[in-house]
Amino acid sequence: MDKLTLRDIDLKNKMVLMRADFNVPQDADLKITDDTRLRATLPTIRYILEKGAKKLILMSHLGRPEGRRVDKYSLRPVAERLKELLGKPVKFLDDCVGEEIKRQIQMVPEKVILLENLRFHPEEEANDLNFAKELASLADIYVNDAFGTAHRAHASTEGIAHYLKAVAGFLLEKEIRYLGGALENPQRPFVVILGGAKVSDKIGVIKNLLPKCDRLLIGGGMAYTFLRAQGKSIGNSKLEEEKIDLAKEILSQAQQLKKEILLPQDNVVVDKIDPYVKAEIVGDQIPEGKIAVDIGPKTIKLFQDKLKDAKTIVWNGPLGIFEMDAFAQGTAEIAGYICGLNATTIIGGGDTAAAVAKFKLEDKMTHISTGGGASLEYLEGKTLPGIAALTKR
Ligand code: 3PG
Repeated sequence: MDKLTLRDIDLKNKMVLMRADFNVPQDADLKITDDTRLRATLPTIRYILEKGAKKLILMSHLGRPEGRRVDKYSLRPVAERLKELLGKPVKFLDDCVGEEIKRQIQMVPEKVILLENLRFHPEEEANDLNFAKELASLADIYVNDAFGTAHRAHASTEGIAHYLKAVAGFLLEKEIRYLGGALENPQRPFVVILGGAKVSDKIGVIKNLLPKCDRLLIGGGMAYTFLRAQGKSIGNSKLEEEKIDLAKEILSQAQQLKKEILLPQDNVVVDKIDPYVKAEIVGDQIPEGKIAVDIGPKTIKLFQDKLKDAKTIVWNGPLGIFEMDAFAQGTAEIAGYICGLNATTIIGGGDTAAAVAKFKLEDKMTHISTGGGASLEYLEGKTLPGIAALTKR
């Protein structure tokens, strides 16, 4: 990496301001339902404290409050959870800028401080440079460990790096190492698995990864626009009519590049999307009125066969409606299978990470990205502003 990281700087007695992505899911009672993103930043937090930083000031966004103070988007519950995970006191301050906040940062005895949601201020998303400067004035060094927000050019991810030495935290570094490593120098065979509802969400990833990978396996809702492009009947399955031509183009590009694209050969279909209706398995011609909700056993076998010699696997998007147990088998079996391979397994964030968590296979994957949109944009080959802004080595 050509950017400075935590290991490159002296933290002793420094005021350190760290951007994390603590945008975690919560239930109606504001209880955090998945703290993966908090746990993922612990090594960075611990390191900064171990190296003798004077104080560590953490900042993040939560949800999309659109520039207003909205109680349900307060980071207070995150401070509570972080305290438990870290086993150290975490002081929560109810704003992120201003003289009073500056005073409190100096006064409070706690070494770890969490500021209130940055997005309560419209200047955050506007990447307002004065706001960035105000944030910067809180510390001596800026650490970005918010990979999940690295695709946003906001004051706390981009603007601030103009005012402070800006280094990558361990989580950000790890994300770049795995995602970047797969893009730049994958061990081969390099197999990409793509799924999820829409082709339109994955066009950028397909364009970037098709030339780089050896095989592309496609499942999930997006597969049916491809099957339609091959002239197959898809019943009432998910179709993006306006993307049929693009799917044809991608299929012929794969032929020119001599890359294999594998599509479902059989499917679990239903009359309506309801886990209690009777499902049946059909081939790659889906009868009228039927909706495909998962890949079938033959396809699971085919995909496993095409994965068995893989040395690098990147997976983005579930292969069926995994949220419903009845339609989760394809996603579950492929997840279980790749865990047992002698391969680097990289899981894009968002739904795919949620699926892997549902099957309790998190510890068996090489890397699960903490970024949803960010990992997608990274895999599309885009420059992420939060990474680009860091200080050059
Ligand atoms: C995410 O959850 O993808 C990140 O925290 C970014 O959130 P955003 O899409 O609201 O910018």
